[in-house]
Formats: sequence, C-alpha cells, structure tokens
Amino acid sequence: MADLTTDFVGIKSPNPFWLASAPPTDKEYNVRRAFEAGWGGVVWKTLGAEGPPVVNVNGPRYGAVYGADRRLLGLNNIELITDRPLEVNLREIKQVKRDYPDRAMVVSIMVPCEEEAWKAILPHVEETGADGIELNFGCPHGMSERGMGSAVGQVPEYIEMVTRWCKMYTRMPVIVKLTPNITDIRKPAAAAKRGGADAVSLINTINSITHVDLDIFAPEPTIDGKGSHGGYCGPAVKPIALSMVSEIARDPETHGLPISGIGGVTTWRDAAEFMALGAGNVQVCTAAMTYGFGIVKELKAGLSRYLDEKAMALPDLVGRAVPNVTDWQHLNLEYVTKARIDQDACIKCGRCYAACEDTSHQAISMSADRTFEVIDAECVACNLCVDVCPVEDCITMERLAPGTVDPRTGKTVQAEPADWTTHPNNPSSPNYVPDGQTRMVEEPAE
Ligand SMILES: Cc1cc2nc3c(=O)[nH]c(=O)nc-3n(C[C@H](O)[C@H](O)[C@H](O)COP(=O)(O)O)c2cc1C
Ligand code: SF4
Ligand code: SF4
Repeated sequence: MADLTTDFVGIKSPNPFWLASAPPTDKEYNVRRAFEAGWGGVVWKTLGAEGPPVVNVNGPRYGAVYGADRRLLGLNNIELITDRPLEVNLREIKQVKRDYPDRAMVVSIMVPCEEEAWKAILPHVEETGADGIELNFGCPHGMSERGMGSAVGQVPEYIEMVTRWCKMYTRMPVIVKLTPNITDIRKPAAAAKRGGADAVSLINTINSITHVDLDIFAPEPTIDGKGSHGGYCGPAVKPIALSMVSEIARDPETHGLPISGIGGVTTWRDAAEFMALGAGNVQVCTAAMTYGFGIVKELKAGLSRYLDEKAMALPDLVGRAVPNVTDWQHLNLEYVTKARIDQDACIKCGRCYAACEDTSHQAISMSADRTFEVIDAECVACNLCVDVCPVEDCITMERLAPGTVDPRTGKTVQAEPADWTTHPNNPSSPNYVPDGQTRMVEEPAE
C-alpha cells in the first residue's frame, strides 16, 4: 500500500483527503464521525465574528441538477457560514483536535474586511490548537452582499491586504480560498501570494440558478415565492476547478504556490487529476453530502492502488501533468487522427451518424443495413462521435503514421511536430505566406 501521508504547508495528515468547509464539518459530531471513517483532515465550517450568529433561511436551501439516472451532477446552495455561536464552535474544535492530534484541523474564517475584526478572531482560533486557517473569500451569496466572501475574493487588493493582516496576527499557516466567480483566477492567486499566503485552495462555489419553477415563475430553491442565486458545486464544476488549478500551477507568478484542490472530487481518480495538475491535497464536500463519509475508504484504496501500479510516491504525482498543459498555439498540428469504429462493438444506434452528419463534417456513412463507417477524406478528427457514442471504446481516434497522406488534406503527415507559431497562415509566424496556401514544411526536391 502506497504511503498517503501528506504534509501540506507543514500541516500533516494521514492522507490527502480533507473535508471542505461546509455542512459536513459544521460541528463536533460530524467531524468526529468523519475522522473515525478515515478522513485525513477537515476545514471547519466557516466561522464569523463574535456576536449574534448569522441566520439561515428556514425553507429549502439546495437546488440540484441530475443526470438521466438521477445521479447528482451539480448541487446549488444558499446556505451561509456557520449559524452556531463562535464560542461553541471554538470549544468543539479544541476538543476534536485534542482527541485526533494526527488529523489536519484547519479553521475557515470570514469576518468583515477590517483589520480589527481579523486581529480579534485569530488568537481565539489559535488557542484551539488548530493547524491552520483558511480565509473564505469565496461565498457567492448572502455574505458577499455584506462585503465579505466573494466580494473580497473578487478584488485582488483586498485579498492581499487581508492575507497580510492574517500573516501578521497569527503564526498558523494561512490558506486563501479563492472564488471562481472571477475572470482570471491567476490574479487573486498572485495577490494571495503577495500577501504572504502559505497556500491557496480552490474552488469555492460558482454563482448559479439551477432551475426556474415554471408554474410560479421563481428560481429554485424557492422561499415563499422567491429565489436567489446560490453556489454551484459537485461533479459538474470539476472541469472548471481543474482548469483554474492548472492556471495557477503553471503561471510563472504563482508556480510553486501550494494548492488545495476543491470542486467535484468524488472518486480517487478525480483526486489524482487535481494532484497531477498541481494540488498538494484535495477537499471534498458534495460527494460526502451525497454518499456519506464512508467514501473516503474508496478514495484512499483507489489512490493507493494507482500509486502502487505506477510505482510512484504521492509527491511524484503532484504537478506531474503541469508541464503538459500548454496554450493552444503550441499544440502539434502534425498530430493527425481519424475516427475508427469497432464494428463488433457497434450497436447500430446511429448517434455518431446523426452528430457528424448534422453538426460536424459528414464523415460517417450509413448503409441500408445500418453499418456505420468513417469517411477518412472528410473526417477532421473532432472526436464528437466518440463523445456521443453510448458504447465505451466503440469509436477510437487513431493516429496517421508520419509519411501517410491525409486523404482529407492531401498532405503528407510530417514526423516533426509543428504548431501555430510557425504555421504559414499565422501572420506572426516567420513562415507567413499571405495567400495561406503554402506548406509549412517543404516537400523534398525531386
Ligand atoms: C451547503 C454548502 C455550504 C458551504 N459552505 C461553505 C462555507 O461555509 N465556507 C466555505 O469556504 N465553503 C463552503 N462551501 C463550499 C465548499 O467548501 C466547496 O468549496 C464547494 O462545495 C466545492 O466542492 P465540492 O464540489 O466537493 O462540493 C459550501 C458548500 C455547500 C454545498
Ligand atoms: S471525428 Fe468528428 S469528423 Fe470524424 S467522424 Fe467523428 S464526428 Fe465526424
Ligand atoms: S454511436 Fe457508436 S454504437 Fe452507435 S452507431 Fe455509432 S459507433 Fe455504433
């Protein structure tokens, strides 16, 4: 069994699976049960400033998007930060940390954007023995209207300023949790780094409305005839989160800044993908809310088995895919593929034909007996047929060997990679040819 022990900004945990700040980590009862189930750490549900706690709605607070099998794909919520008194949370955090010293206990905080407010709460959190803090600059609803959460996370200068206060007033590691409700995630990440953050975590939830009730004409979840935008999370947001994590990992300004990956992690594969793109660990919320704390057993077993199969240690996985994330202009245009249909696996449903005929390149033929075949002279290798085919691996993309003539373009596939930066159609390329018709690589002379 591979060693899953993790050291994230000096915070040790027996595995890289932490529960994200949310209902699963809102109280002692939950966190104890999570630790018993095997979670490596938690980020406690966000604490607010001293005084009367926030008040949640008393109607439904979730909206859901389902797949055809009613599997939960996306979850939307209008919940606020913890609605329990600060002193109760602090007391419970201290007790749980005392009883589970080997688990990571990070406390999420969101107080007004004033130095005194941060200065006031940090010693109380430190006193619990917690391992670190996470600054919640992410909540897109409720708190943002009060100048907190994503209202701070959308202004890099505020992020830098608050992070600096926290580094000034506590010795605990500071993790800055970023909102995805922003155009360029590299900006807030760089601001966090400038402020002295030990790490960033992302993503928090995405602004969303999951449904509109077409009888009462109000968004869901509906509270007495009205609805509000909420935060979207779960498997549906994973692609957005992965891209944002990779952007931070490969940007020269933030490269090397530790990242805690969050967003739709449901299986060990999801976790491994986040880690390959640069996350030092992952946090999970929706999957635990959907399937319970027990999923951590499969997360641990799966990741461990994968590492063993690859003969890799966990740190070797972190960032392994980052060098392979590039900008479009650097993709090899001499990598030419064609779709191939496995006739034995094909169930003759015709979806590939409909997709390619109506919306792609008319590159699949259908015979009278419903045999579907790819026409290489038309196939642009877009991959759509693979994506819509209901039978896994029935359609695959096969590379044309260098030296082969692509029947679509009539050009010989070159062994040497070539990308847009040197393409003759690119006005910025040294090989630019205004009529756009000349080959990038000249044919050998007769
Ligand atoms: C009901 C609910 C409440 C949440 N509350 C908080 C919170 O108090 N603080 C916070 O930083 N994130 C909060 N989140 C966001 C999660 O921590 C996490 O960033 C997000 O759900 C994405 O992860 P997931 O796709 O695994 O759910 C909440 C999420 C949900 C679903
Ligand atoms: S890869 Fe694209 S163009 Fe080629 S057959 Fe499939 S859908 Fe058509
Ligand atoms: S979509 Fe797949 S299974 Fe359906 S006809 Fe095409 S190749 Fe066959």
